[in-house]
Amino acid sequence: MARYSHIVGWGMYTPEHVVTNEDLAKIVETNDAWIRSRTGIRERHLVDNPQESSSTLAARAARAALERAGLPPTALDMIILATSSPDHLFPATACIVQDAIGATNAGAYDLSAACSGFVYGMAMAHGLIVSGQANTVMVIGAETLSRLVDWSDRNTCVLFGDGAGAVILQGREEPGGFLASVLGADGSGAGLLTLPAGGSRLPASVETVRRGDHYIKMDGKAVFRFATRVMANATRQVVEKAGLTLDDVELIVPHQANVRIIESSVVRQLKFPREKVFVNLERYGNTSTASIPMALTEAVETGRLKQGDHVVLVGFGAGLTWAAALIQWGPPIPLLPRWQRWWHQAWYPFHRARSAWRRGLRRVLAAWLGTKERSQEEFEGLRSRAGLKKEKKE
Ligand code: ACO
Repeated sequence: MARYSHIVGWGMYTPEHVVTNEDLAKIVETNDAWIRSRTGIRERHLVDNPQESSSTLAARAARAALERAGLPPTALDMIILATSSPDHLFPATACIVQDAIGATNAGAYDLSAACSGFVYGMAMAHGLIVSGQANTVMVIGAETLSRLVDWSDRNTCVLFGDGAGAVILQGREEPGGFLASVLGADGSGAGLLTLPAGGSRLPASVETVRRGDHYIKMDGKAVFRFATRVMANATRQVVEKAGLTLDDVELIVPHQANVRIIESSVVRQLKFPREKVFVNLERYGNTSTASIPMALTEAVETGRLKQGDHVVLVGFGAGLTWAAALIQWGPPIPLLPRWQRWWHQAWYPFHRARSAWRRGLRRVLAAWLGTKERSQEEFEGLRSRAGLKKEKKE
């Protein structure tokens, strides 16, 4: 029996704090007219509290997607989290999210393909589902790039925003859902968009911090040229791979980096109608891996997709990478009755307590083992003082 993977849940979350172009003009030499005309961005949401990070935004989006799907977190078999701003180099941010939502039956890993990461993640989820290795997979794109940009560099700091988006893919027998994907990379362009320090190549040091190598560095013009070329090509290729034409596509949800990239690639090169391209970057800026799932969530919630529609998700990013996926939208997903949603919500505080208990237990165990070790040393001391232990010969 053929298996298909369908999107059964979606959700997003952005931090409350909104920063407008005018606000940025107070900290770097820029202005609203420049940012709007060169990028299309009007404002972005940024974390303003040290407790917020990619994992906390991701967990909120994950909970929204689970609620929309009517599934408890325990239904997830796998969590794939695409990010360029993980909480740590390790452990994987996906594991922190797995614990935060109590997805106790799920494996979890991070995926690094920059802004193409979410579409890469969807392709991995589809593969897991159709090969029978998993049935319900959550794919998250989450970023707090505001923690990695140099707030004195006007070339980059005006572009990015923080946020998270998530979808849930589930195996079904009805045809449709994820139809095709195109994934690409060209590492010869790795230096065009990079965060040089903090990895094994250039470990963090006083010197790297002094040089600002822990901030995003970008050749904006080169990335722009690359993006316009690959967005159009990848869209063409994925449509062809699915055995369709662009006329069969009802909506394109592109990576929300810059409205000029979208217009010059998708609209002008492909001659695709502008009104069939979903754009929300004016309110969020470039949220990297989160931009496509956030835009998809808003597109669904505003009624832009109905059953049977073909939607193309297409992105590009550091690496260099690019990715496109073609999805046939499934039937509407009814919301669960309120009491059942409440029942699912009740899992979160229960799991938080369970997780705290496990952490506490580990500490107690470690302390107890520590005591044992000390006792062993004391025991050895007693043995040697009692003359039971032979002195080591010089
Ligand atoms: N405010 C005012 N002036 C500015 C600003 C700013 N914020 N930033 C740059 N300028 C100036 C430049 O210094 C330059 O001045 P100069 O001519 O005196 O040197 C002038 O504006 C023009 O700059 P350009 O770089 O030519 O501007 P351009 O039209 O190329 O737009 C931009 C720059 C918006 C960065 C564009 O190149 C772009 O969008 N590139 C793609 C970036 C991108 O999408 N990156 C994300 C990839 S996805 C990922 O993986 C995270």
